[in-house]
Amino acid sequence: MTIDALDSNTLKASLEKNGVGIASAVVECSSTQQYARNSHVERDTVFASISQSEGKGRLGRKFISAEGGCYFTLVTEVGNRSPLSFVPLVSVAVATVMTNYAIDAQIKWPNDILVNGKKICGILSNADDKYVYLGVGINVFNDLSAIADIAVSLYDIGVRNITRAQIIADVLKEFYTLKERSFSDILDIYKKYLNIYGKKIVVNQGAKNLEGIVCGISPEGFLLLENNEGINVIMNGDITFSD
Ligand code: BTN
Repeated sequence: MTIDALDSNTLKASLEKNGVGIASAVVECSSTQQYARNSHVERDTVFASISQSEGKGRLGRKFISAEGGCYFTLVTEVGNRSPLSFVPLVSVAVATVMTNYAIDAQIKWPNDILVNGKKICGILSNADDKYVYLGVGINVFNDLSAIADIAVSLYDIGVRNITRAQIIADVLKEFYTLKERSFSDILDIYKKYLNIYGKKIVVNQGAKNLEGIVCGISPEGFLLLENNEGINVIMNGDITFSD
């Protein structure tokens, strides 16, 4: 397998070709999320890295980021949106790109992208007063043999002739196109990619587990879980199916 070259020039060229007019750089860093948050940029910028020694995942977890994967963080202004609204937005952008690559992708609430029930992409969103930092890690050529029961790469499912610069440009083009649409339009697409309606699940929220049946998604993108306490609105957590 040949891993494509990802450097600042190839990324810049791919973004330009896709009409994505933002600043970009491929940087050597332990986490693009951390790097982006320390960068104090003044315009939309994407930072990518060929690997990360301290990749950050949701809920304080580590995100293993070996060479061959596609790791990037977009810095963009929060503007008048809710910072939380960016989670469905990025998830839909990645899922749509997968669909465009003829891949049958699903979104695992809130923002994992799965193929055949295995994780192909993780997304992390952090915000401060002015900017949101949207971190995306996509398994492309990276070796997942140690976690092959839960994770899959684009290479594993037969995608060839793709470069990571092209993937970043495709996701960002989709992101900026979707950003022009209303949040309710984005949520409608988000719901179509979800695989959990009517399913019995357990939501793990650190010390607490909540069980119930998924009865919908709120207008903010939160999970609605019905159990004998009524309808619970869940903003964050990890879900597993319980039947
Ligand atoms: C998750 O699955 O828990 C979220 C993973 C997010 C990983 C991406 S890779 C690029 C960016 N840099 C990081 O350190 N994390 C995000």
